[in-house]
Amino acid sequence: MSKILSAVAWPYANGPRHIGHVAGFGVPSDVFSRYMRMAGHDVLMVSGTDEHGTPIMVAADREGVTPGQLADRNNRIIVEDLVNLGLSYDLFTRTTTENHQRVVQELFVGCRDNGYLKVQDTPVAIDPKTGNTLPDRYIEGTCPLCGAQGARGDQCDSCGNQLDPQDLLNPVSKVSGLTPEFKTTQHYFLDLPALADRLGQWLDEVEKSGKWRPNVISFSKHLLEDVRPRAMSRDITWGIPIPGWEDRPNKRLYVWFDAVIGYLSASVEWARRRSLAGRGDAEDWKMWWTDPQALSYYFMGKDNIVFHSQIWPAELLAYNGEGAYGGTPHRFGKLNLPTQVVASEFLTMEGKKFSSSKSVVIYVRDVLSRYRPDALRYFISIAGPETSDSDFTWEEFVRRNNSELVAGWGNLVNRTAAMIAKNFGEIPPAQEREDVDRELLDEVAAGFSVVGKLIENHRQRAALGEIMRLVGEANAYVSRTEPFKMKDESMRSRLGTVLNTLIQAVSDLNTMMSVFLPHSSNTIDLILGGSGDIAPMPQMVETTDLDTGHPYPIITGDYTNVRRWERRCVVPGTPISKPKPVFQKLDDDVAARELERLEADRG
Ligand code: MF3
Ligand code: ZN
Repeated sequence: MSKILSAVAWPYANGPRHIGHVAGFGVPSDVFSRYMRMAGHDVLMVSGTDEHGTPIMVAADREGVTPGQLADRNNRIIVEDLVNLGLSYDLFTRTTTENHQRVVQELFVGCRDNGYLKVQDTPVAIDPKTGNTLPDRYIEGTCPLCGAQGARGDQCDSCGNQLDPQDLLNPVSKVSGLTPEFKTTQHYFLDLPALADRLGQWLDEVEKSGKWRPNVISFSKHLLEDVRPRAMSRDITWGIPIPGWEDRPNKRLYVWFDAVIGYLSASVEWARRRSLAGRGDAEDWKMWWTDPQALSYYFMGKDNIVFHSQIWPAELLAYNGEGAYGGTPHRFGKLNLPTQVVASEFLTMEGKKFSSSKSVVIYVRDVLSRYRPDALRYFISIAGPETSDSDFTWEEFVRRNNSELVAGWGNLVNRTAAMIAKNFGEIPPAQEREDVDRELLDEVAAGFSVVGKLIENHRQRAALGEIMRLVGEANAYVSRTEPFKMKDESMRSRLGTVLNTLIQAVSDLNTMMSVFLPHSSNTIDLILGGSGDIAPMPQMVETTDLDTGHPYPIITGDYTNVRRWERRCVVPGTPISKPKPVFQKLDDDVAARELERLEADRG
């Protein structure tokens, strides 16, 4: 049994999230965490909303509210969406808590004391029209590295490199369209060159483990070929105050410096909340962070790789004192580097890149208002952008829902329970099993290890594909044994054996399915005579900031009494009644209607 930290990317609170976001970080991290718990590990799954930075300020200005008000509103919307999707966070919090601020400042001071954060003079961009400083991402120009047009001052989407705005060729302000002016100011810089050797060594080690996706490794190594100190503060009034610069309130920590520390601060908050509830010690978070045996998995979309395979490990190494200048860990002790950065590729929609401004977008809440969460979870898990970009189309969503979920899995559950209800009213005992029965049971039992290994290796598409293959085998078993023809009294004992075999297979498959489709697995568990709690569900809880009392909702849950990832023998005599369909068949015109809706939004 291991301690497993499931560190899930923190969604920006500048607006509601679309299905591309939850396909990249949400559903995959939940499937993994649910499986790891069932496999007996001690999982801590944390995340929250990412509420600092310019996008929040800009969105707030546009709406005439304060950044805090905007963040409050979007935090709530995002929490509702994620809990409705059934994402089983131990704690989903936010970056505007005082706890987060304190942990971030502790990390900052630790890195600075060890010599890895230094003040430097640096050019800052000013919009000549407004006279305000221009945030990096509001400057566009030609990428100096790959020559692509439309690179932003913080990053080039074409080659993925991080940039500084003054590197851009022909820079233009997105606010005014004018050429920004650069003046000089002071900022804190993270000394990446002093950490590069150790980072490279770490990347070599993880490469040897053979566990990381090759594209994530090579991308990360490539980034190390040209490292420069990176500014970790900004000229902005919204963000975490910089220790020692309290008299310069226009300077705050860079949003990415603070956001990645969220994994740690949320773990600290989780332990504080548990100890306040009398269920553990406030230091319990350390079991996931300072025990070298603990494992940590970071889930995100590919645009986040650099922050998780370079900036965050660099912050950790600097805090630990593990770079060229040495040093010692501060108060928190020596913190673990990520075991694995599990980055997914991009989901496109109807062949186009998601874009809220161009209305190429489907918000999670719109999908959930019209369809069941497991229909979306199924699509994301079987066809998501795991190792290459993938496309969401409404037509494919409907097809997969109807021909796979409804006609495959749903039908198997339904006919199994219906035949048992009609013929016995309870699970019949198995008499002598024949080869055909044993073959099915053996194959399904083997699924636990096949599917489990695939999930452990972050191959969820293949894992769910394997479960669906076994569903096909079970349906084929029905065709082969034809229990619906066993009407004669002389066949009754054989009928019981076949149906017992079948419901055992369905029960096993439902256990495996529960990590992908938790809501329907609970419904199916009830149909199979269980208590309907095979998959523990997260809850949205209204709470307050532990230090300031500011109210906000969190996601949390009790996932300790989880079903084991193994066969549980069905109990003859368990009552089974006529089932209602578990999945919802979608009408043929659903796709056309959704496309019309999209057109209307665009028009
Ligand atoms: N807010 C970022 C995004 O949506 C992700 C931040 S991940 C974190 O792309 F760990 F840094 F918080
Ligand atoms: Zn580029």
